Amino acid sequence: MTDTDGNRKVIRRALRDLSAGRDHHDTPTPEALKGPLVDSYGRRIRNMRISVTDKCNFRCVYCMPAEGLAWLPRADILTFEEMARLTRIAASIGIEQVRLTGGEPLVRRDLPALVQMLRAIPGLKSLSLTTNGVALPKLARPLAEAGLTRINVSLDSLERERFAQLTRRDALEQVLAGLRALEDCPTIRPIKINAVAMRGFTEAEVVDFARFARRTGYVVRWIEFMPLDADQIWRKEDILTGGEIRSIIEGEFGPLVPITSADKSETARRYTFADGVGEVGFINPVSEPFCGQCDRIRLTAEGQLRTCLFAHIETDFRALLRSDASDAEIELALRQAVWHKELKHYIGDKRFHRTARSMSMIGG
Ligand code: GTP
Ligand code: 5AD
Ligand code: SF4
Repeated sequence: MTDTDGNRKVIRRALRDLSAGRDHHDTPTPEALKGPLVDSYGRRIRNMRISVTDKCNFRCVYCMPAEGLAWLPRADILTFEEMARLTRIAASIGIEQVRLTGGEPLVRRDLPALVQMLRAIPGLKSLSLTTNGVALPKLARPLAEAGLTRINVSLDSLERERFAQLTRRDALEQVLAGLRALEDCPTIRPIKINAVAMRGFTEAEVVDFARFARRTGYVVRWIEFMPLDADQIWRKEDILTGGEIRSIIEGEFGPLVPITSADKSETARRYTFADGVGEVGFINPVSEPFCGQCDRIRLTAEGQLRTCLFAHIETDFRALLRSDASDAEIELALRQAVWHKELKHYIGDKRFHRTARSMSMIGG
């Protein structure tokens, strides 16, 4: 397990503050109460992930139980107006990117209407969606017309039976049809594929997925399995690292060529092939944590703000939004919550404790 440079920088700063007797966790500095959103480690927060529903029409083994997860009551879930108000306030102090997640976001009725509301918010530069893709044959076009700009589609296998084994749904054809529907929507680019990598399952199709990336132009990314599954099947031994997957690809295609991202907070390490055709990426939160460059906060479907995927503390923005709090008061609550953003996730460390929520209750 290694730390990236960004992590080291943030950790050095934390240690310096501690040895100088400064408790940067207690109170935001005056600048943090005025300027762009920033946490106590100096990380600029630009990206908000909004979960629009806890419901899902799949049951992926790395995320949900086969059955028996009760859905939240309708009244507990934020309305589109509530999400848009909070986004407007967040964008006015530095949130530039919003990603809609779930559960499965396309299960939420009228999602294109929310996309349209968010697109109109000044300051937002990117509006994206992470989906299992099963509803895209119907919704790709309405989403494009509403103003969606980027999309990530989860797809763990290109073989019907293996797909069904992992998602517990026989829906590969629909997802592939959804991807084809996106090809007719040129304003939604790039199209990225997310595959959760699990040892003993994923290896068999790594080369096929690499060929798929080269043939289609979709950016295929493998994600290291994280301890966020509802069934608690996660074991360190089940992680197939990005490094191992890269070796399999390089064994077939020769050395990959790194792509330098302009966005330092990006989750994926990006690569192209020697001939420049196709892009693949590796999201390595376990073997190469990227917390040092993290610029993300998360809003759950019921309006709880989480400043880390693995957070143990949440801030109840639903209560604020449903009170008579002014925009200025909500802004202050946001600044304070962000100030207390967690240093890192501690996976693989004695200090790691699972969060009470599993992935579908957070949004990834
Ligand atoms: P892009 O902006 O297109 O790169 O998307 P993304 O990778 O930020 O979002 P996506 O929803 O596609 O998530 C891909 C994987 O990265 C999922 O497994 C997420 O849970 C994981 N991920 C996203 N952000 C974080 C993060 O801050 N920390 C960790 N540990 N994992 C994250
Ligand atoms: N570990 C890593 N990634 C996960 N995802 C869901 N559960 C896990 C997990 N336990 C991914 C999904 C989706 C994204 C939001 O998170 O495949 O692409
Ligand atoms: Fe649904 Fe996404 Fe979880 Fe799969 S990973 S069960 S698609 S919420």
